[in-house]
Amino acid sequence: MENENKQVKIKVEDLNLVFGSRRDEALKLTEQGMSKAEVLDKTGCTVAVNNANYSIYEGEVFVVMGLSGSGKSTMLRCFNRLINPTSGHIYIDENDIMVLDEKSLREMRRNKMTMVFQNFGLLPHRTVSSNVAFGMEIMGRDENERLEKAYKTIKQVGLQGYEEMMTGELSGGMQQRVGLARALATDPEVLLMDEAFSALDPLIRTQMQEELLELQKKVQKTIVFITHDLDEALKLGDRIAIMKDGVIVQIGTPEDILMEPANDYVKAFVENVDRSTIVTAGSVMFRNPPHVDIERHGPNFTLRLMRETGKDVLPVLDKNDHFLGFVVDNDVAEAKKKNKRSVEDVVIKDVPMVADTTPVADILPFYLEYSLPVAVVDDEKNLIGLVSHSAVIAEMIGKEEEEVIQIKEGGTHE
Ligand SMILES: Nc1ncnc2c1ncn2[C@@H]1O[C@H](COP(=O)(O)OP(=O)(O)OP(=O)(O)O)[C@@H](O)[C@H]1O
Ligand SMILES: [Mg+2]
Repeated sequence: MENENKQVKIKVEDLNLVFGSRRDEALKLTEQGMSKAEVLDKTGCTVAVNNANYSIYEGEVFVVMGLSGSGKSTMLRCFNRLINPTSGHIYIDENDIMVLDEKSLREMRRNKMTMVFQNFGLLPHRTVSSNVAFGMEIMGRDENERLEKAYKTIKQVGLQGYEEMMTGELSGGMQQRVGLARALATDPEVLLMDEAFSALDPLIRTQMQEELLELQKKVQKTIVFITHDLDEALKLGDRIAIMKDGVIVQIGTPEDILMEPANDYVKAFVENVDRSTIVTAGSVMFRNPPHVDIERHGPNFTLRLMRETGKDVLPVLDKNDHFLGFVVDNDVAEAKKKNKRSVEDVVIKDVPMVADTTPVADILPFYLEYSLPVAVVDDEKNLIGLVSHSAVIAEMIGKEEEEVIQIKEGGTHE
């Protein structure tokens, strides 16, 4: 649904890649449902990519994740035909790259798609700026333009001041930035990043991930990022494809992958993740909750609605349907006693509001000093749902909300 208005940048169709001499036979056996191991045993061929079909949208970070040997690098190398697929098609902007001749291929690798490798591929005895300008040199841009662009990109990746240092004298993390700057300097439409951060130590790696996301906000490239690290995949990916033995077993948003792992393989990956940083208010909220309209509903109506719905707290909306706050049963009963026509005076207004994209981890702290639900609103402050304390706890401990409510109720009677 949400993909309807997105532009397809790369389309992968029936893509297969087999290593070995008896490829046709291997492909046939694969089509018949034989596993990678069985095919290897029978034919001596490795099926590295098995019938991949998917699209990558313009401007998205598409992560391919899987264990070592699952076929990630091989699939990526098909994109710029560093390896030729055994069968199938890859379209970039609807152009079939399988029909490109050598010259057009070189052109495409330079102008459209740049690859950032894990081991950087830098020239250690050249300066940072010269390394960054290198890609543009190959493209035949003139020297002034090269240097100007190089300096600009070096600044973008946070290496300002290091322009004239020898690249070999930089730390691993800094070298990785040079590699990234070099790729960005050629202004490619697509960035192919194969385990680009895997060689970095954990702190610098996290930092690079954050910086890539910051940078991506500005440059809006289509990025295909390969990793075998689920945390990295969840952090960077707009969508993630999970590969196993050459097969893509699931494609989805980080949330999809966590909420509905397609099989035990994906589940095994997902089990050790801190869900609270990924699962959002939108997916644990109670949608379209019963509510009170401040203009129309007074204490009598409100108490009645509370009885009917079994709620002792209800959200209140103003005449434009904007969220105002909450009313609690005792306060409303009090207002009724005083013959008030409106609940206006008893609305608790100073309450937190979050967006449906807010991670559950950011909602938790509210409950420390606050016992009402948390309102989920859109940009216009229209109420779209409520997140209850028990829904959040249920999410964190992987139980159903009902169970949590029962446990809590049991606990409050002590
Ligand atoms: N040149 C090659 N010749 C034969 N088999 C190969 C070749 N390159 C890769 N393979 C095989 O293809 C499969 C996929 O390898 P690939 O390098 O794509 O995996 P990967 O997912 O990138 O792994 P890693 O995480 O270790 O980089 C593996 O079974 C591998 O042994
Ligand atoms: Mg690889």
